[in-house]
This record gives sequence, structure tokens and C-alpha cells, in this order.
Amino acid sequence: VKEVRFGVIGCGAIHSTHCKALQAIDQAVLAGVYDVEPERANAAAEAFGVPAFGSLDEMFDAVDAVNLCVPSGLHSEVGIRAAKAGKHVLGEKPIDVKLDRALRLVDTCKTEGVLLGTISQHRFAPEILKIHQMVKDGAFGKLLQCDVYVKWLRTQEYYDSGDWRGTYDLDGGCLLNQAVHTIDLAQWMMGGVDSVQGIVKTMNHNIEAEDTALAITQYSCGAFGVIQATTNAYPGFAERIEINGTEGSVIIEADYIKFLDVDADAANAGPYGKGIQSQPVGNTHTTGGEQLPQTDLWDVLHKSQIEDFKNAILEGREPRLPGREAVEPLRIILSIYESSKMGGRSVPIHEMASA
Ligand SMILES: NC(=O)c1ccc[n+]([C@@H]2O[C@H](COP(=O)([O-])OP(=O)(O)OC[C@H]3O[C@@H](n4cnc5c(N)ncnc54)[C@H](O)[C@@H]3O)[C@@H](O)[C@H]2O)c1
Repeated sequence: VKEVRFGVIGCGAIHSTHCKALQAIDQAVLAGVYDVEPERANAAAEAFGVPAFGSLDEMFDAVDAVNLCVPSGLHSEVGIRAAKAGKHVLGEKPIDVKLDRALRLVDTCKTEGVLLGTISQHRFAPEILKIHQMVKDGAFGKLLQCDVYVKWLRTQEYYDSGDWRGTYDLDGGCLLNQAVHTIDLAQWMMGGVDSVQGIVKTMNHNIEAEDTALAITQYSCGAFGVIQATTNAYPGFAERIEINGTEGSVIIEADYIKFLDVDADAANAGPYGKGIQSQPVGNTHTTGGEQLPQTDLWDVLHKSQIEDFKNAILEGREPRLPGREAVEPLRIILSIYESSKMGGRSVPIHEMASA
């Protein structure tokens, strides 16, 4: 039986999601873990019944692929070391927090002939995939708006839990750490972003990076949108995407369709459409399927993406979400930073100056 041996690098908050998934996936083996803090590696090793490696090189001798669960700004540095040792690299989101580093990681993996994947697990949610396909098929007619709302809560205690959190060099703020998931979904469903105008601010935390961001997005398809992201919203809300087109609308909350109405005959619905604006959107999602608790869904989605990466290695194909695609949400967010520095001027995401 062919199998892929994985090593998990970084044993903090997210590592157990990767370890659990790897131990549940056929033809995947969790070969061991590594952390710069040996006690963290030892605790993970004990929890999962696998070795804790004493160094990255020791791990590289024992694995075919690595899962990067280290602080975001170290993804490229550690990923490049793994790639140069001939190991496939599946990194956590975001791909990195600086564009030049992210591009170096993409290039190195290409040169070394190893696969690079970046986690964006919500792209694997069944109802997200359904809407992605509907948008592609033109079910919403001409696309006019796509709005992203990520109103989460993170306390100062959360930011104080790691030196890297909330720093520009290793983490970024609510855009790069939290909203990156939803920004990625929106740009993927809409077929890319051309430019952004934005403003970011640190309003209520003692951190370097932003805890609040507002942006206007101009999608390549011609639609407009807004992004609102914060880690200040007590008690914290499900992240939300709203898409409006000439023939339909969808509201997605936390990977579930909360509202969906498409009608190819919408143009004939009368001067006030269907009057839906006067009806509150209900609490239940429309598809009738069983809704998993959010934390269970997270495990399922990570497992789906890790399994696809394993299959890509065995089948000699690209993963469904190659790392280079994860450069797009990074460009969008860095362009919002740049726009904010210039007082909200429009920044074409492929021409931004800062790396
Ligand atoms: N996909 C998701 O939903 C999701 C959720 C949480 C975190 N993440 C991502 O996972 C990454 C880690 O986040 P976290 O919350 O687990 O952080 P964390 O601070 O809890 O854990 C990071 C771990 O990496 C270790 N580490 C630091 N430098 C290292 C190095 N050079 N080599 C090996 N180990 C090193 C630290 O000692 C720590 O144990 C981040 O990029 C974050 O964005 C993704």
C-alpha cells in the first residue's frame, strides 16, 4: 500500500486538528511532530502516540511531507527548508504575511519539484462549493455585489498568548489572521479582485497590527463589495458573505447557506422585486441538510483539504488548492494596508508597491 508520511511542525493551537486528521486519513501517516519548544513537541507526541523529533532535519529524514503549523510569518522560512529537503509542503493560512516571502516559497517549491498547498479549509465546505459552482454557472445573473463581514472577538489575552500575535512581521491583524478565510472565499467565488480601497485601525487592543478594517473591493467581474473585519465584536458573530446579482442573491454564514433565491425570470418580478426586503431572513438555513456544530465542521474541512493534498502526492497531480492561489488573498490584504496608508486611495492588487 502506498502511503504518505507527514510531519507536523509547530505544536500550538492548530496542530491537533492536523494530527487528528492525519491519523484518520487512509494512506496518510502521522510520522511525528516538531516544535522549537521541546515541551510542546513532547506533549503533542504523547497525545498522538508518535515521536517528537529533536530537529527539523531529523524530521525531514522520516517524512515525505510537512504540515506547517508555525506562526504565519515563518511559513515561508520553514517551508523553504522543507522544500529544499525534498519534502512536500502543506502550510497553514495565510501563505505568509509578506508578499516577497510568499512568492519565494512558491518559487522554491516549484524549483524543488515538491507540491505546495495552503490551508483555506472553508473552500471545502459543501455549501460553499455549491455556491461557487452556481456563481460559475451564472445562476445569479450579472454579479453586482459581494460583501464580506467578519465580526469576531479576540481578547487581549488571546493576543498576549503568543509573542507573534498581532505583529506585522509574523501575524498581521484581523485581516491576515481572521478575515483571510472569508476574503479568500469571496475572491475565489467572484473570480478575483482588481483593486481595493481601505482603512485599517487598531481600536481596542494593545497590538501593532489592525483590529478593525473597512474596505471597498472592485472585483474583476465588475461587481463591487465591502469588507468589514474586526476582532472587537463582542460576543463574536458568524462570518458572512452576501452576493447579489441581477437574478439572485445568497447569504452565507459560517459555511452554511442562510438565504438563497435565484430566479432567471427576476427581471419580470415587478418594480419592487419580490418584496423580500421587507421579510427578515430566518434563522434556519435553506438547504434542509443537517447542520454540524461549527467546531466539528472545522475538523471535517481540514481533513478534506489534507486528504486532497495526500491524494495529490500519490496521484502526482496538483492539490485542489495550490499554494500559489493563496497569494491572491495576501495581495488583497496587503493592498488594503497600502491603501490605508495613502488615505484610502484605490490600489490595484497586482501593482501594489509594498512587499
Ligand atoms: N486554518 C485555521 O482555521 C487556523 C486556525 C488557527 C491557526 N491557524 C494558523 O496556524 C498557524 C499557527 O497558529 P496557532 O494558533 O497554532 O499558533 P500557536 O502560537 O498556538 O502555535 C505555534 C507553535 O509553533 C511553534 N514554533 C514557533 N516557531 C517555530 C519554528 N521555527 N519551528 C517549529 N515550531 C515553531 C511555537 O512554539 C508554537 O508551539 C498560524 O499560521 C495560524 O494562522 C489556522
